[in-house]
Amino acid sequence: TGHFTFDPGYTSTCSTESQITFIDGQKGQLLHRGYPIDQLAENSTFLEVAYLMIHGELPNQAQSNEFTNTITNHTMLHDQIESFFHGFRRDAHPMAMLCGTVGALSGFYHDDAHTTEDEARNMAIHRLIAKMPTLAARAYKYSIGQPTVFPRNDLSYSENFLNMCFSVPAEQYKISPTISRAMDKIFILHADHEQNASTSTVRLAGSSGANPYACIAAGVACLWGPSHGGANEACLNMLREIGTVDRIPEFIARAKDKSDPFRLMGFGHRVYKNFDPRSRVLQKVAHEVLEELDLKNPILDVAKELEKIALEDEYFISKKLYPNVDFYSGIVLSALGFPTSMFTVLFALARTVGWISQWNEMLEDPSQRIGRPRQLYSGATPRDFIPMNER
Ligand code: CMC
Repeated sequence: TGHFTFDPGYTSTCSTESQITFIDGQKGQLLHRGYPIDQLAENSTFLEVAYLMIHGELPNQAQSNEFTNTITNHTMLHDQIESFFHGFRRDAHPMAMLCGTVGALSGFYHDDAHTTEDEARNMAIHRLIAKMPTLAARAYKYSIGQPTVFPRNDLSYSENFLNMCFSVPAEQYKISPTISRAMDKIFILHADHEQNASTSTVRLAGSSGANPYACIAAGVACLWGPSHGGANEACLNMLREIGTVDRIPEFIARAKDKSDPFRLMGFGHRVYKNFDPRSRVLQKVAHEVLEELDLKNPILDVAKELEKIALEDEYFISKKLYPNVDFYSGIVLSALGFPTSMFTVLFALARTVGWISQWNEMLEDPSQRIGRPRQLYSGATPRDFIPMNER
């Protein structure tokens, strides 16, 4: 077919040029604007990383203060958004609520849809980073039947989010620096990952000039699947199913059996053919959090042993299947008190920074065109229409 290349699953197609994130999958290296992810996770804050992603440089103190103030100013939701939540059943998945309500913001901020204007794009960026935690926390509160906790401007981004999730009118959530720092690190580690499925979805949706909130809703929808952001939920469910260390060999055997569809959740990655650098950071965070909360979690023992066995197993070695970011994030998030249904929501909240930075980068480029993949047609050759009574 002439000059087209056939590349199902885009394993070798660069869909765009980008200056935001670099991954060397063979080395297990992840850089944002040149900075290694482990250095950012150790030394930076999520809002600082957000600024870096969007603007290309770390902010100085004045820029950081201004950015934090701007984001803090936009954390409230329009009161009418509350009605959208009440339209959902209480048992609706919080990802369904997040997808619906972030898309609904497109009906509230019409001016932000002028995607060719810098100012309109900036408003969309700020509003999305500010409102995603409020939407995510509201989805959680709604699902457990508790009243809204409004955002608080005196708290950091992660403290505010934890407070909106876990405070109740009778009792204010007690914020521990270890826990809020762990939350911030999880957000940093999930902030961007170059042209993954959901980011490519946001870019493709945005390439037509679509409303930014609708584009982010498309990203949320894509992230939801168990092969992408849904893997942390699937991983924790799997660790619980394994339950005890002695049952690991049975599950390893199943993962290797080609007639069994079971896969070890939290292992393998399309790009990393080495240790995922994010899982190294999260492994440490998991230990810090469990120590602080004094939780003796049998799931962590299963996770540690599973990691050890898989890393020494010929099948996993030959296929270069290493633990990915989802392997440890589920353990940390459940220790913080989140139900598994919220895991992908937290991923979406953090990844919004990557999605919107990449959306902005694409639209800033004057040579940007609508994304339009081609196909390899394998259907019927031309034929004449058959009337109903002759079929
Ligand atoms: N357990 C057992 N075997 C596996 C696994 C696994 N977790 N992952 C891959 N394989 C095998 C697979 O069966 C195949 O074997 P063969 O070549 O004999 O047919 C080979 O390894 C290559 O797998 P693939 O499915 O062609 O690789 P992919 O690049 O299309 O898929 C993946 C990558 C992440 C979807 C896959 O490794 C997987 O399903 N992992 C489990 C789910 C998971 O943890 N997903 C989170 C991904 S990271 C977070 C994110 O970026 O969103």
